[in-house]
Amino acid sequence: MRFHSPMSASTPTPAGPLVAVITGASSGLGEATARRLAREPHARLVLVARREERLRTLAADLTGLGATVTWVAADLTDDDAPTRVRDHVRAEHGAPTLLVNNAGAGFRARFGSERNGGFANHRKTFALNYDAVLRLTEALLPDLRAAAPSAIVNVASVAAHVARPGAGAYSASKAALAAWSEALRAEEAPHGVHVGTVKPGFFPTEGFPATELKEGRLSRLALGDQDDVAEAIVQCGLRGKDERITPRFYNAAIVLQGVLPQVIRRVVGSDRAQVLATKTVSDE
Ligand SMILES: NC(=O)c1ccc[n+]([C@@H]2O[C@H](COP(=O)([O-])OP(=O)(O)OC[C@H]3O[C@@H](n4cnc5c(N)ncnc54)[C@H](OP(=O)(O)O)[C@@H]3O)[C@@H](O)[C@H]2O)c1
Repeated sequence: MRFHSPMSASTPTPAGPLVAVITGASSGLGEATARRLAREPHARLVLVARREERLRTLAADLTGLGATVTWVAADLTDDDAPTRVRDHVRAEHGAPTLLVNNAGAGFRARFGSERNGGFANHRKTFALNYDAVLRLTEALLPDLRAAAPSAIVNVASVAAHVARPGAGAYSASKAALAAWSEALRAEEAPHGVHVGTVKPGFFPTEGFPATELKEGRLSRLALGDQDDVAEAIVQCGLRGKDERITPRFYNAAIVLQGVLPQVIRRVVGSDRAQVLATKTVSDE
């Protein structure tokens, strides 16, 4: 296992055992990431999410494949969640070498909508997609530094660059996460903690089923695959990549947003683009 950081660039990186904390491991990308990381030699994994039965089943499955897997059932927005995760990791595995901040939700609602919208929806979205990430990272950072070379991967989104109606809170939370992730990379490099950011486009999961996109012959082409995104997490977490946008063709949307934002505005504002404001399970 190799990590990239200024500290490790000039000296050979010791191949230490992988101790990975994966949030949102009960479904979708988090589960796919756990399955992928379990294939690393001597992998030790800590699965985190609210649905304990799911974590228990996945842990048993991955343990059968040879990994050492434990779990913490926690709502990451709870005050005591970060210390509960930290204490569990210390007690069961020692210091973590990888933190994957993946848990997140869509909470779609228009800001002016009396139903689920407004500032309350922004607070709810930020509590999970941004605040909870920072709080867990803060709790684990001393141990990640102690275990350096180590890594943190933050799962943002292409939505950090391209905002759609009904997804303003989501986009804002992911843009904040992506910006913070950039700063943290520079801050933690001297400590040997590499920070990577993964920005997926649409990929169908339980929480983000993308039903509207699956139904169209053309829109279906915009869908990625959770296993490819899990591989992008591995590229950032274990191979020292700074950022991965996946599927790669979403790079074009990000570049276009930078150089010709009026084109993106016209597309996003059009009636036909309403299909892009896909429904998610957390909308109600
Ligand atoms: N799918 C896409 O199109 C897409 C695109 C770009 C970015 N992303 C990002 O990718 C990440 C994974 O999403 P996904 O598509 O895999 O969705 P998903 O299947 O809904 O998975 C979300 C995970 O987060 C966990 N979670 C939700 N609220 C939580 C809370 N309060 N405390 C602890 N865990 C919580 C859920 O577990 P419990 O319900 O058991 O707690 C679940 O394991 C998210 O950050 C999402 O924003 C997804």
